[in-house]
Amino acid sequence: MTPFPERVFSGIQPTGNLHLGNYLGAIVNFVALQKTHECLFCVVDLHAITVPQAPNELRQAIRKIAAAYLASGVDPQKNIIFNQSQVAEHAELAWIFNCVARIGWLNRMTQFKEKAGKDRENASIGLFAYPTLMAADILLYKATHVPVGEDQKQHIELARDIAQKFNNDFSESIAANGYSGGFFPLPEPLIQGPAARVMSLRDGTKKMSKSDPSEFSRINLSDDADGIAQKVRKAKTDAEPLPTETEGFKGRPEAENLVGIYAALSGSTAEGVLRQFGGAQFSTFKQALVDLAVAKLGPVGAEMRRLEADPAYIDSILREGSRRARAIAEPIMGKAKDIVGFIR
Ligand code: AMP
Ligand code: TRP
Repeated sequence: MTPFPERVFSGIQPTGNLHLGNYLGAIVNFVALQKTHECLFCVVDLHAITVPQAPNELRQAIRKIAAAYLASGVDPQKNIIFNQSQVAEHAELAWIFNCVARIGWLNRMTQFKEKAGKDRENASIGLFAYPTLMAADILLYKATHVPVGEDQKQHIELARDIAQKFNNDFSESIAANGYSGGFFPLPEPLIQGPAARVMSLRDGTKKMSKSDPSEFSRINLSDDADGIAQKVRKAKTDAEPLPTETEGFKGRPEAENLVGIYAALSGSTAEGVLRQFGGAQFSTFKQALVDLAVAKLGPVGAEMRRLEADPAYIDSILREGSRRARAIAEPIMGKAKDIVGFIR
């Protein structure tokens, strides 16, 4: 049995537009988890600056993520919505973790390899250390569950390794401070639903991503009905009708992706969608998908725009959330310092 009460933490970077992958892979699960768990939802602005950001755009992007949480139905009273840079302990714990994690561990991170590209020598040190900050985000609150998309699995595994190594390296000091069963929990990823990995609308083998140069590769939460319709209609498909069983997705990543999106938006499963649309032509299915996507995403986008027009309100939510986050983080950080051997 774990001695740690269940607590949920997740974060989204304020970079670029939020897309359907962020929404279905992460935010929809946040909305569900708030019913059963104590949750913190963070706008990870410290992570954003691992690659260059224009200050004014960064400020807008932070508010946009907060607006997306609110517009999607995350309750700011019940949960803690805040931005990372307002709670200094994130950076403080990340430093300790930089001294716990090994260079070899970080060298294996695929996201770093992708983001650094060919010119690795010129990547920021922050981009390399990104996963130790992410581990600090989670463990600063002793969070036990982390809802994310499939692409973050490796980072959560690293956070577990860091928690484990901290618990081992300092086991005597942890015991001397009165803890049994380790100081940090080993957090578990929650990778759920038929859209844990939403693929590009232009290429079913590539992840839908903020950094894809083609706007037609992704549906943004800020797209209007016409934009959504255009992108779905242009989405790549093949010439066959939809299969009747999920086995029929073999070699048809675009069909699988669109059905997964439909399933996630309708709260169903791929099997359920194929019971309804198996054998149908893409033209029919795409029209149904446009109607569904517009019905589900339209109101979220509209509410985001309404909230974004009132930045003072969003800033007040973030300030209050940060205050509540700090109240949880401070004592845990203090204990971590005692365990390491600092004086305070
Ligand atoms: P990011 O925008 O990289 O901060 O990602 C925010 C959240 O969205 C994380 O939980 C990601 O795993 C998730 N996410 C990003 N892209 C996708 C995608 N294409 N499919 C599913 N989830 C995604
Ligand atoms: N790395 C995550 C992403 O790119 C964002 C993130 C930062 C995060 N800290 C986190 C997610 C802590 C979950 C928990 O999507």
